[in-house]
Amino acid sequence: MAQSQHSSRSILMITIVIAVILIVVIWPLSMIGKGGTKTAGNDDAEARIQPVAKVELAKAAAVKSDGKPRDGATVYNAVCMACHASGAAGAPKAGDKAAWAPRIATGSAALIKSAINGKNAMPAKGGNPDLSDAEVKAAVEHLVGLAK
Ligand code: HEC
Repeated sequence: MAQSQHSSRSILMITIVIAVILIVVIWPLSMIGKGGTKTAGNDDAEARIQPVAKVELAKAAAVKSDGKPRDGATVYNAVCMACHASGAAGAPKAGDKAAWAPRIATGSAALIKSAINGKNAMPAKGGNPDLSDAEVKAAVEHLVGLAK
């Protein structure tokens, strides 16, 4: 009993930490890519919360699956696309050969390592710690494939 209470507390703590990371790290970072465009009033607030909403949606979609490993395209669409489709936060755009060529040149092992551990504005596992390393690797291969 004490054991299971302890582990559900840990899960709560992890959830809080992830929520804080999403709000404190990803939100300001995703604003960088917006080029500082400002509109007045409610539009501004909406524009500011949008990246968070997108990341949250992406997370929910990825978590929903049934425990089977997801393929690269599925993971990309659910998680990575939030930044890599638009180039948000300075992410290299999917399919942009010029942006990807120098990264691909570092070798797929280096890219997979960056995607799993994070790199600058790129969060570890795209901000989805529940992805397995294999799922992240498949998503990297999918992204690399799009840029070839
Ligand atoms: C919150 C935005 C965001 C999400 C979500 C995201 N990325 Fe990224 N990604 C970035 C940014 C920004 C960079 C550029 C980092 C740099 O080189 O400074 C990047 C870079 C990369 C790179 C190149 C790393 C390197 O070593 O050059 C790979 C590979 C990558 N992302 C894969 C993924 C995969 C796979 C996912 C989904 C599981 C994902 N990204 C989700 C923002 C994101």
